Amino acid sequence: MSTVELVGLRKSYGQTEVIHGVDLSIAEGEFLALVGPSGCGKSTILRMIAGLESITDGEVRFDGRRMNESTPKKRNVAMVFQNYALYPHMTVRENVSLNLRLAGIPKTEIRKRVDDAARLLEIEEILDRKPAQLSGGQRQRVAMGRAIVRDPEVFLFDEPLSNLDAKLRVQMRAEIKALHNKVRTTAIYVTHDQIEALTLADRIAVLNAGRIEQLGTPMELYSAPVNRFVAGFIGSPAMNFLDGKIDGDQVHLADEAGTLTLPPEHGVADGRNLAVGVRPEHIRISDSGGNLKGIIEQVEPTGSQTHAAVRCGQHLLQAVFEGMLPLHAGESVSLNVASDHIYLFDADDGRAVLQAHR
Ligand SMILES: Nc1ncnc2c1ncn2[C@@H]1O[C@H](COP(=O)(O)OP(=O)(O)OP(=O)(O)O)[C@@H](O)[C@H]1O
Ligand SMILES: [Mg+2]
Repeated sequence: MSTVELVGLRKSYGQTEVIHGVDLSIAEGEFLALVGPSGCGKSTILRMIAGLESITDGEVRFDGRRMNESTPKKRNVAMVFQNYALYPHMTVRENVSLNLRLAGIPKTEIRKRVDDAARLLEIEEILDRKPAQLSGGQRQRVAMGRAIVRDPEVFLFDEPLSNLDAKLRVQMRAEIKALHNKVRTTAIYVTHDQIEALTLADRIAVLNAGRIEQLGTPMELYSAPVNRFVAGFIGSPAMNFLDGKIDGDQVHLADEAGTLTLPPEHGVADGRNLAVGVRPEHIRISDSGGNLKGIIEQVEPTGSQTHAAVRCGQHLLQAVFEGMLPLHAGESVSLNVASDHIYLFDADDGRAVLQAHR
């Protein structure tokens, strides 16, 4: 396995630049997730790493060696796509071993590698079946098997789970993680699903319109987002943003929706216009009269939690409360947010001005 470095990586299609100079270093054995909204350039970056797309400017390096001119085969990467691209007329064993047979590897060696991969992925029972006789999850495992047997330098995943139903996606997510823990091959995993990124990755790069907004561990991105984009992208349900103005240790919300108390010595200038960020899970119902007054518009009990949409002036806040609460639409509530859970962002450029303290 290898380290992977992207240095000033750029891509243009005709006159249009879609990747604007990406720098990224991925350690040997690391699991890096590349997340971002549709069209931000995730697949383009992955395809440049794989050698399936030409590089307009900058470098892709494996273990410090420039790869720009190397063929996909020379780079020895294994890619798992959203559609598994299995050959329908071949059995599972034939599909998994295809690349090894093409590479002229001896038959006994191929048999051993396929059997090892099949054991790892628990697909020993289905090796003689054709893809049409498999479930979605089994097909996904076969696609992974095909990648593993090649013993690649780097695994590249492009939204490999997005064709599966919700339950299977969670199960396969756990399997990919367990697999990486066993083989420890450097992995780059593209997804637009931030939960997948948070649960799988050692580090996450958040991409927006062809640029990396932030690179960090799941914890860093969640607790210390550098700007409003990252804050709104990481976390589910998404962070609420309210317009506010600073007055000492108070921030007055627009529309007289209420006031929140900031930590002492927060260092943000009085009168400054800001976007106040509050995560749904940090909103509490306050019996003793909270600082935010709202009216419940919608309640969704999930069993372990109660999700609610609360109207506070011009803002509709999403809140998540622990447990099953007897809340009803139309009811007035008082809410509070602990001062060390309040985020502030510049109203114009979105940069973080104050990050939550835990
Ligand atoms: N062959 C191409 N010619 C021109 N533009 C392209 C080409 N391929 C991709 N693009 C553009 O490059 C940008 C990035 O596309 P890319 O497929 O990398 O996005 P993505 O982040 O993978 O999105 P998604 O989550 O929808 O898969 C998009 O604006 C897309 O329209
Ligand atoms: Mg894509």
